[in-house]
Amino acid sequence: MFVRLLAVGDVFGECGVEFVSMALRGIREDENIDFCIANAENTSGTGITLSDYDKLYDAGVDAFTLGNHTFGKKDVFRLFERETNIVRPANYPDGTPGCGSAVLKCGDKKIGILNIMGRIDIAVSLDCPFRAADRELKNLKDRCDFVVVDFHAEATSEKKAMMYYLDSRVSVLFGTHTHVQTADEIVTKNGMGYITDLGMTGAEDSILGVKKEIIMRRFINALPQKFEYAYGRAALCGAVFEIDDTTNKCISVKRICVR
Ligand SMILES: [Fe+2]
Ligand SMILES: [Fe+2]
Repeated sequence: MFVRLLAVGDVFGECGVEFVSMALRGIREDENIDFCIANAENTSGTGITLSDYDKLYDAGVDAFTLGNHTFGKKDVFRLFERETNIVRPANYPDGTPGCGSAVLKCGDKKIGILNIMGRIDIAVSLDCPFRAADRELKNLKDRCDFVVVDFHAEATSEKKAMMYYLDSRVSVLFGTHTHVQTADEIVTKNGMGYITDLGMTGAEDSILGVKKEIIMRRFINALPQKFEYAYGRAALCGAVFEIDDTTNKCISVKRICVR
């Protein structure tokens, strides 16, 4: 038997949240999904509110990961107190609210969820993600059957380095943050499912989820612009990982983009 896990790329703004609410039940059914994890750092553009969380949870998201926009909305402090299924990058400094990992149940399996963040070309500078991963994996050892990692990072090289670093130690490693899906999904010979970036869930006619006119003006005139979310036709981007429930290794990975 297998555990089928759906990982959903950065859910962006109202359009992204509404699309997940509308489409996730159907996708879960069509793809026979047992567990769904979503990156929720952008549900309110920057950060997540209580109502975004509730909507996504009601839609069928079982676990939430974050990133450089973790503290964009103050509701996140309440969520860290109230919920056990939301994690922020483990390499935030000691003493930062929230946890970098969690263990969640899926049938009779215990899934370790780990969130880490890169340090290349990303606004928040954190501790070393490689050493943070070592620390958290030690912590998760014996507490779960397999580990799933969201590496929230900009640089493809840093993500690939993490792939080789964690290979054979985790079952799934996916990247988030760039909002653009990569076509390099792979199952390593050690049984780790990997993709450099899941892509974004939100308005397609946009620049990374923001109204395209705003970002274009920013590039063309080099003046600061207030961000506004884009609306319209949406897509949910992510990947489905299949994990063998006897070996706890990944046996397949499939990219998805549902419009
Ligand atoms: Fe994002
Ligand atoms: Fe991000």
